[in-house]
Amino acid sequence: MTSTYDLLDARLAAAFGRLGPGADPVLRASERADYQANGAMALAKALGRPPREVAAEVVAGLDLADVATLEVAGPGFINVTLTTGYLSRALGTLLGDARLGVEPAAPAHRVVIDYSSANVAKEMHVGHLRSTVIGDALARMYRFAGHEVIARNHVGDWGTPFGMLIEHLVDLGEAGAITTLGIGDLNAFYRGAREKFEVDEAFKERSRLRVVALQGGDPETLRLWRVLVDQSVRYFGEVYAKLDVTLSPEDVVGESYYNPMLEGVVADLAAAGLLVESDGAQCVFPRGFANRDGEPLPLIVRKSDEGFGYAATDLAAVRDRVGALHADELLYVVGTPQSQHFAMVFEAAREAGWLPEGVRCEHVNFGHVLGPDRKMFKSRAGATVRLVDLVDEAIARAVASLEERRGEMSGEERLHLATQIARAAIKYADLSTDRTHDYAFDLDRMVAFEGDTGPYLQYAHARVRSIFRRLEAPVEWGDVAFALASPAERHLATGLLALPEAFSSALVTLQPHRLCTYLFDLAQRFTAFYDACPVLSAAEPTRTERLALCELTARTLRLGLSVLGIEAPERM
Ligand code: ARG
Repeated sequence: MTSTYDLLDARLAAAFGRLGPGADPVLRASERADYQANGAMALAKALGRPPREVAAEVVAGLDLADVATLEVAGPGFINVTLTTGYLSRALGTLLGDARLGVEPAAPAHRVVIDYSSANVAKEMHVGHLRSTVIGDALARMYRFAGHEVIARNHVGDWGTPFGMLIEHLVDLGEAGAITTLGIGDLNAFYRGAREKFEVDEAFKERSRLRVVALQGGDPETLRLWRVLVDQSVRYFGEVYAKLDVTLSPEDVVGESYYNPMLEGVVADLAAAGLLVESDGAQCVFPRGFANRDGEPLPLIVRKSDEGFGYAATDLAAVRDRVGALHADELLYVVGTPQSQHFAMVFEAAREAGWLPEGVRCEHVNFGHVLGPDRKMFKSRAGATVRLVDLVDEAIARAVASLEERRGEMSGEERLHLATQIARAAIKYADLSTDRTHDYAFDLDRMVAFEGDTGPYLQYAHARVRSIFRRLEAPVEWGDVAFALASPAERHLATGLLALPEAFSSALVTLQPHRLCTYLFDLAQRFTAFYDACPVLSAAEPTRTERLALCELTARTLRLGLSVLGIEAPERM
């Protein structure tokens, strides 16, 4: 099924093209009509003619009678109003389409999405929350679009801190350390190691030797390192399960995976003439990067102590993802503070010939999570907040908000529903604003059933589903005629038909909030419809028509939420 936008755009483009080859109709959804084509102004300028005259000629040369009526307005806008006949046919098609009008992508891409990427033996914090939630929403959106997604959880599992972490593990005794890590007290573990490292010279020396042993591939050291990695990966898995995130242990391809490739990266950069020694370090100076004084900025590939840097690993990862995984798109869901790092890595990779023109490579950046007071998010004690604690607190609030419903549900059902609500609250709050902005983590607002929240949308869905529970028998849809007699019905109908446009704009721009905006708007259209139009008490054929609008609303909300990683419970 071709989306309404694509259909109109194609027909309008043909008409514009007859006046000026390749002229863009500049078609937009509009408040005035259903759509507005604003391309006549630019075309008129190019032709040296009055815009209204050009718009009138476009309209005259175009027969859209079966789809829409056209009208020239203002300085030369073309207002496009869909016909009831078109809306009715399109809604009928939608009723029989599990994808609700979203066509599978052709050709399908292989997309590598680097997300979540926490650090071994370190607690996951709110920064990882955003990467995890946004990355998982994008992964689900790409999969639904028909692309192949390869998730890469690029965990920090290598580097000098592992010397001290392994020594701390030895001090605690393996069993004791596993217990600490197993209960998810990674903060305590890391702090314990850090504190000794700072005050205890002998410990510091042991740690240094341990790093050497680790890099030298000493089997016992590697075994101990594995213990740390495995415990952390298991713990991350618990957090993902709690959040309903699709990452699995197979997606963990940490920094250490790229170690064997780093010598080759350096050798090939040198052979390409891109490697320069600067202050004892091996650097690339990617084109277009300078500091405030106009001096070129180095990307450090190998440090003066011979160790490889973060950048070397990311260069190896680009090469692996393009060369071995044959990715068509590379996405990195990482906070804005790393923008310059990624821009320099991508440019260096291009100069080295590892990132061909046709491969899309993007840093999907995001802003900070702030506290409810809009200052940096910190616990009362001033520490970074554990991600699990946030989720647990959201669940506790949702349980409390369901308190009055004690009679209707068992304790287990209540906890299950509260977990679904809490996840929706957290994910939707993160996804519904432009990701590049900061947002305030305000649980009271996030878990509310009113306002632009995840629970509100879940509730809107459950409310529609409750209508169907009052029916004696399931409805057989057959051929529904949509008369759309009232403005509220028509408004809901055009909203239902706009999912493909909203979905594709969210996907193409990597901006899940566009889909959230669409769903929130749809829920409001439904509320207006439901206030104005009785459903079950209406006479046939209106009753079936309105039930079909309800059915499509529920399906659209459910599908839209699911591609964002949010569940839509049947009852709330
Ligand atoms: N582990 C890093 C951190 O916690 C994020 C890694 C992001 N991915 C990457 N390919 N560099 O900040």
